[in-house]
Amino acid sequence: MRLKMIPVCEPKLGKKELENVIDCIKTNWISSKGKYITEFEEKFSRYCGAKYGIATCNGTTALHLALASLGVKTGDEVIIPSFTMIATANSVTYTGAKPVLVDSEPMTWNMDPIKVEDKITKRTKAVMVVHAYGHPADMNPILEIAEKHDLHVIEDAAEAHGAEYKGKRVGALGDAGCFSFYANKIVTTGEGGMVITNDEKIAEMARLLRDHAFEPKRFIHRYIGFNYRMTNLQAAIGVAQMELIDESVETRRRNAKLYNSLLKDTVGITLPPEAPWAKNVYWMYTVLIEDSFGIGRDELMKHLKERGIDTRSAFYPIHTQPVYAKRYMGEKYPVAEEIGRKGINLPSGNTLTKEQIEFIANAVISARK
Ligand SMILES: Cc1ncc(COP(=O)(O)O)c(C=O)c1O
Repeated sequence: MRLKMIPVCEPKLGKKELENVIDCIKTNWISSKGKYITEFEEKFSRYCGAKYGIATCNGTTALHLALASLGVKTGDEVIIPSFTMIATANSVTYTGAKPVLVDSEPMTWNMDPIKVEDKITKRTKAVMVVHAYGHPADMNPILEIAEKHDLHVIEDAAEAHGAEYKGKRVGALGDAGCFSFYANKIVTTGEGGMVITNDEKIAEMARLLRDHAFEPKRFIHRYIGFNYRMTNLQAAIGVAQMELIDESVETRRRNAKLYNSLLKDTVGITLPPEAPWAKNVYWMYTVLIEDSFGIGRDELMKHLKERGIDTRSAFYPIHTQPVYAKRYMGEKYPVAEEIGRKGINLPSGNTLTKEQIEFIANAVISARK
């Protein structure tokens, strides 16, 4: 008999999502115009503490749109953490700029502020911070360095809906913040993204570039724009998801607390970080499998799969990716490498039950040698 796998991160969708999508179909508003788009932009950006929201077709296009709206172009450099999902680096590459890498700090697994200044050159235009797995990066020192050197700050908050840095939600702490609403995210629209900002000029530019740079006088274009529009269908799901965002964040945190209590005494497991100033939303509940655990991370993944538990490895750092490795030859980012080697995402979705979490934790503990 084939086991039904416990998925790593499945979406939680309900009646309201269905009703809103049916409404789009019944009213014929299925493309990128319609009431749900503005409603979703307003609700989500307000939730994050930003004045403007520009919805896009996914998180990667949100990142690219933010960079393009800030004028990042060929010849520029953008500082990013090496420990991140590939889209962070790719979005910089799309602009023609070079991603310049920084290691993570062990306390947050995110960009180490102490290491940023060394990477600034005459070409540096921006710093793109990532809030990995739902834990905010240490923003204040990064914002100070950026101000000192006149650099833009973009937050890649794709994984961190509702996470807080010193009591403030992430995404509106720099010049622009970018989110993903892919199916495994804390708020989902199937595929989707958003740029949020408090800067009217950035918002205007992002709106323009999102839509082929159409000006009020139709078919006259002053910029090379993109088609990065979100559909009303996607936004309709997003609007319904916003009704549950507080509950979704709390579920993630409650599940993490339960995992922590079950795993904390197991030798060889390092629990996910939560700095004293942070509210981690545990998009992916991620632990490090230390050498003292007795078997390696990959072996543990296999052990869990055999018991019907789906997992993911942590991100492999950008400088180790085949597509980028040549460019960063000889560069070392030991903290990023360690998290990439030892990190495992355990099932984290909001549909998980207490019994499933207990089953998963027991399966992890039973693998120890
Ligand atoms: C840190 C980070 N940035 C960007 C993205 C890209 O988002 P999307 O898959 O919606 O394009 C992701 C996706 O998971 C991500 O984890």
